[in-house]
Amino acid sequence: MEFLNNFVLPQSAEHLELLHYMLLIVLFLFIPFISMVFGGIFLSVFYKRKAKKNHDTNYLRLAKDIIDITTISKSVGVILGIVPVLTCVLIYSQLLHNSEVTNLNYLVFALVLISISLFLIYSYRYSLTFNKIFSSFEKSTSSSHDLVDDVTKLRDESNRVSKRAGIYGLIFLFFGIWFFITGITIPSLINSWESESFIGGLFCWTVVSRFIYYILFAVAISGGMVIFSFLQDEKNKKNIDEKYSGFIKKEITKVIFISVFMIPFFALVNLFGLPESSLTSTVFVYAISSLVLLFIGYHFLYLLTKEMQGTTAALLFFILILSVAANIVGEQKAMETSTKVHSAVISASFEKYLAELKGEGKTVEINAAEMYQVKCSSCHKWDEKLVGPAHKDVIPKYAGKEAQLVAFIRNPSKIDAAFPQMPNPGLKPNEAQAIAKYLLETYNQKIK
Ligand code: HEC
Repeated sequence: MEFLNNFVLPQSAEHLELLHYMLLIVLFLFIPFISMVFGGIFLSVFYKRKAKKNHDTNYLRLAKDIIDITTISKSVGVILGIVPVLTCVLIYSQLLHNSEVTNLNYLVFALVLISISLFLIYSYRYSLTFNKIFSSFEKSTSSSHDLVDDVTKLRDESNRVSKRAGIYGLIFLFFGIWFFITGITIPSLINSWESESFIGGLFCWTVVSRFIYYILFAVAISGGMVIFSFLQDEKNKKNIDEKYSGFIKKEITKVIFISVFMIPFFALVNLFGLPESSLTSTVFVYAISSLVLLFIGYHFLYLLTKEMQGTTAALLFFILILSVAANIVGEQKAMETSTKVHSAVISASFEKYLAELKGEGKTVEINAAEMYQVKCSSCHKWDEKLVGPAHKDVIPKYAGKEAQLVAFIRNPSKIDAAFPQMPNPGLKPNEAQAIAKYLLETYNQKIK
């Protein structure tokens, strides 16, 4: 991502810290939302297939309800699904400015994959709605034959869309999240920065276990959301199909159970997969809090199997979100630790940059020989006259008079009638100083 490196400036230490906080906020918005969408499309496609296999319309209805609940709306999809990834790319390009880390490539891939997947998933969602409308239309026999034919055609079309869009959306999102997780994990693995190839990064085991952790979490959280919104509907007497809601509760609690019980294992693998250098006590505290919250979540899940209540489901949902939030903070703290050295490099180059802007000589090392090449060598040579006189003819008179030489270089005056006037090279005081010194040193060496 050369071009990102080019338009990013080095930042002060305070600014870098601010960026870490911004990153946290962005992840807090993005991870729960994209998890819900992923869990939603996964469960929806799964139940849709099951509906076809078992010829059970309950499953079909469940598939549609799940995707309706978990994807919220298209504009939310853009705001919470695409904008945060873009922001992540920008934040990371600042945080890891000029480093060897390749995580931006993964994030850009993630951006593309997730955008495509969201497009497909929303098409899937609408096609399921159309399917429902068409099939209810077909059932009403009062319509004329032509119309029924048209509707059947449309229904088939929409069926095809939902079949493909669903499965492709799921696949694209799967890889999108995988790339995203790789992109945010790699900076914490400072040791493997240079050694991993692009594909190697994806399969590095810390990345894989983190990815599985988030996928399990995604399924659990979307299950929680679905149960919660069903119980809510039930309370408002919107959905009083007893048989169907009993069916949902059974199916979804099963799914939450399976996923939630595997989470701690991967959470621990994630923790111990971090390099020792980034395992600070803060990281530990957050990881443990995340687990404790998860255990409280078990408690609510257990209550839910005893008695289905809206508040319990809501609590379960929020506890799960808190648990993953604590986990995100822990991971980010680990990343902060492992990039500490790099942050110091960036803020040092920021100081240097600032000093350069102010033209302060002390803190800036100027490579005089190099600058001479760029600014002077087109007109001057040591022992040959070009546009200007040969240095060997003019420098001796400045021996021991560095200040005069500096003054001339900064502001050339007309000297020798045989030459045109030297144009002002536009150097800062410290630069003129360095070049003058360099010329006099060269002169001293030549006469030795
Ligand atoms: C565009 C051509 C050009 C460039 C670029 C240029 N010079 Fe010159 N320089 C001249 C000319 C022409 C003269 C003769 C001026 C005169 O005698 O009035 C001169 C004269 C000098 C002299 C002799 C002054 C004297 O007292 O006789 C020095 C020393 C010198 N230049 C240093 C530099 C340095 C250092 C740079 C780079 C920062 C530089 N020049 C860049 C054209 C150039």
